[in-house]
Amino acid sequence: MSKKAIPFMLAAGLVLGSAPAVTFADPPAPNEQADHAFDNKVIKKISAERLYERVDLLSKQPREAGTQGEYDAVQYIKSEFESYGYETEVQPFTFQAWDGGTSSISVNGSDFAGDVHTFNGSVNGTVEATLEYVGLAYAGDVPDTVSGKIALIERGEISFYEKIQNVIDKGAVGVIMFNREGTEGNDFGSTYEGQNIPAVAIDREAGLSLVNQLQSEEVTAEVSVQDAGPIDQTSYNVIATMKPHKNKDTGQIVTVGAHHDSVAGGPGANDDASGVSGVLELAKIMAKTPTDTELRFMTFGAEEKGLLGSYHYVSTLKDDEINRISAHFQMDMIGSRDSGDLIMFTPAGEKNLVTDLGASAGARVAEVVEYGQLGRSDHVPFYLEGIPAALFIHAPLEPWYHSPQDTLDKISKEKLKETTQIVGAAVYRIARPDTPALENARVAPGPVHYEFDDRPL
Ligand code: BES
Ligand code: ZN
Repeated sequence: MSKKAIPFMLAAGLVLGSAPAVTFADPPAPNEQADHAFDNKVIKKISAERLYERVDLLSKQPREAGTQGEYDAVQYIKSEFESYGYETEVQPFTFQAWDGGTSSISVNGSDFAGDVHTFNGSVNGTVEATLEYVGLAYAGDVPDTVSGKIALIERGEISFYEKIQNVIDKGAVGVIMFNREGTEGNDFGSTYEGQNIPAVAIDREAGLSLVNQLQSEEVTAEVSVQDAGPIDQTSYNVIATMKPHKNKDTGQIVTVGAHHDSVAGGPGANDDASGVSGVLELAKIMAKTPTDTELRFMTFGAEEKGLLGSYHYVSTLKDDEINRISAHFQMDMIGSRDSGDLIMFTPAGEKNLVTDLGASAGARVAEVVEYGQLGRSDHVPFYLEGIPAALFIHAPLEPWYHSPQDTLDKISKEKLKETTQIVGAAVYRIARPDTPALENARVAPGPVHYEFDDRPL
């Protein structure tokens, strides 16, 4: 019997009484004892109520990069960091966005009354032609008769790219698309390179009324898109830094991040107000906890536009800083009540220091956390610089992902708390001042076995 098994069997009551003179030759190593105390020091301070309140505040409006909603979130995050005592930098950067200009439709010579939205990437121009309804615009279903006409299309089932390409292939000169069943609004749609016809979006009700009209009469429509094109916009990262205790400085840096932007029109309670709240909670707690490691808590802008904030942040780092960052922890979508278990993703699907620490912190807080392979968030630019990095997220995903239904009522306080505790315990393992940080970080309080998990998203 291995020594390790003795305490377990005792605990399980299996050998009580008949146990040999137990030598207790296998007490916890001194640093293991200390570890549990330290874990508690961080874990017990994490407040589910505070985590939830911040998600509430942040998710009251969408935070699409470059909008007032993002700016308001940035100001809030900055003032929170500052109130915890952090030196805080707001780091602006520009990115190219799409300005839809002005679009209009006329139907049999009269101005269309509803709201008209320009597809992202639509060419400018005015076309006048007969309108033809082509349903969902599956390739096989688009008739040859749409040649020279404006195609009226229903959204759904296949991509914007396919729908538009299918009608272009049949010679359509313009597109009006209406929203799918069960939706309101018309803020959707993209055209792609080479799809050079004006394309606009209308809401479902307006679309169905055009379908109806087409059943009784021929309709001539005009679709006009003017002044659409790319524009420069500004997004921001927010970075809060806590220097280590002067006499204990190991020179290491640990970074903890989330993204504060949401998709257009989405309140992004889980994606990723949840992660921002986790970052703020850990910042608040660590502000009062001495460390031997520099900690940088940060929220990125324009993640939803292509991880732009984190790419920008990493591009501002000096080589020396990159070499000193021993770990990046990314929290994205950490609080949905309708998603699966916690998982740690790395872009190459390989373990690293962050996943080792996360797995064993998981075992101490709740259960071992498995790892998998995925990019799709702000851990990617860190990984590309050779920094051990992982994304902490739940999978499979909730059905509300990137929808207007990603709201506070779908957030689980328990999931928010547990994930933040796990990341907090993992971060503290490196940053605590009572160990020669990284070496001991790898060994104490004992590595756990954790596996690759090919879980569906
Ligand atoms: N929170 C998601 C990342 C995510 C999505 C992880 C689904 C796992 C499953 C993130 O905000 C996101 O949506 N990312 C974009 C990345 C892109 C813009 C580079 C995505 O996945 O579409
Ligand atoms: Zn996200």
